[in-house]
Amino acid sequence: MNETNAPQPTGIAALGLAVPPLAMDVTELAALRGVDPDKYTVGLGCRTMALCPDGFGVVDLAETAARRALESWSGRVEDIGLIAVGTESALDMSRPLSAFVADRLGVRGAVRSYEVKHACYGGTLALRQAVEWRASGAARGRAALVIAADVALYAPEDPGEATQGAGAVAMIVHTPDVASVALDAHAYSEPAFDFWRPVGESFPRVDGKFSLECYQRAAASCFGSWAGERDAREAFEALRAACFHAPFPKMVKKAVDRIGESFEWSAEDTARLYAEKVVPALEWNTAIGNSYTGSLWFAVARALAGAEVGDRLVAFSYGSGFGAELFELTAGPAAARAEWAAPLEAELSARERIDRDRYVALRAG
Ligand code: COA
Repeated sequence: MNETNAPQPTGIAALGLAVPPLAMDVTELAALRGVDPDKYTVGLGCRTMALCPDGFGVVDLAETAARRALESWSGRVEDIGLIAVGTESALDMSRPLSAFVADRLGVRGAVRSYEVKHACYGGTLALRQAVEWRASGAARGRAALVIAADVALYAPEDPGEATQGAGAVAMIVHTPDVASVALDAHAYSEPAFDFWRPVGESFPRVDGKFSLECYQRAAASCFGSWAGERDAREAFEALRAACFHAPFPKMVKKAVDRIGESFEWSAEDTARLYAEKVVPALEWNTAIGNSYTGSLWFAVARALAGAEVGDRLVAFSYGSGFGAELFELTAGPAAARAEWAAPLEAELSARERIDRDRYVALRAG
């Protein structure tokens, strides 16, 4: 490791992704709940929910993703000076999830270790802090291990049930081999109760319509700031991808519609840009469902896979409460190899598909 405290070139040096071993199609849930399946597949754009078996949880996901990122990185565990986990699936009100993961990975010593909470925005905040830590020189050349990990479950029969999912994305923040992360970022926040989980309650409370409105307002504000005086359509057109936090695909579509309205794009241009720049990055999200903090980062990982050096994309993060942030990433030389893609695709294909009876038993457990 370079022990200088001069600011270092910074970005994502390696990525690791993980999903749990069970999955259920939303059409199976629709049959269980007596709902028209088109509501879930067409109305919300959902396809499959990733589910955890009994005894498997957020630490298992975070550990697997972290091990995969470490395996495809040229550094050593001893080179890590910061481990931060963004999550809204905390196991303890005091002990950070990072301690559970660090224990399993053998990360200890001169390491800053902590958990970040801001609903689905927590993983992004952990990444931003790690990037700024490196850029400040305080890292003295060391790397950060950032993990966005969650198990997203709603109360049985909640309207959000079809949007459930689970997964983890780990990022080694060091040299920008996979992607550089721009220091320049566009944040927007407003205090709101759109989605929250009071202390001691197992499932979130959601004001669904209000949450959609907050998300769209944040997206339009962040993209407006990002475009500045530029022609927004040309700037958007020049991107390889626009990646969004995706609670469910229709929510992203509504946000892109709002962005298009705010820039006065024609309906045709908005629809085309959504289809070309946004939809391809959502492939893994639709196979996983909502993974809260991990959701945006599955889209970014999908969009970076196979990218050429210099390809640019934007990442829009949103966390209820609410806070949002938009910034650019630029693909580095390791993006073309996309070492994170094959293990995830294999894991997605190998998942056990469960039926409604098994799901009911799982939720009862
Ligand atoms: N065929 C096709 N579409 C159908 C349909 C059918 N049979 N029945 C309903 N729909 C459509 C509705 O028209 C609606 O689409 P629209 O908004 O484009 O009009 C969509 O399906 C959802 O229907 P709605 O009645 O609004 O669903 P709901 O009140 O049961 O709410 C959620 C469901 C998921 C939208 C809501 O609970 C929610 O927003 N939850 C979570 C929000 C969230 O994740 N917030 C956190 C952000 S980080």
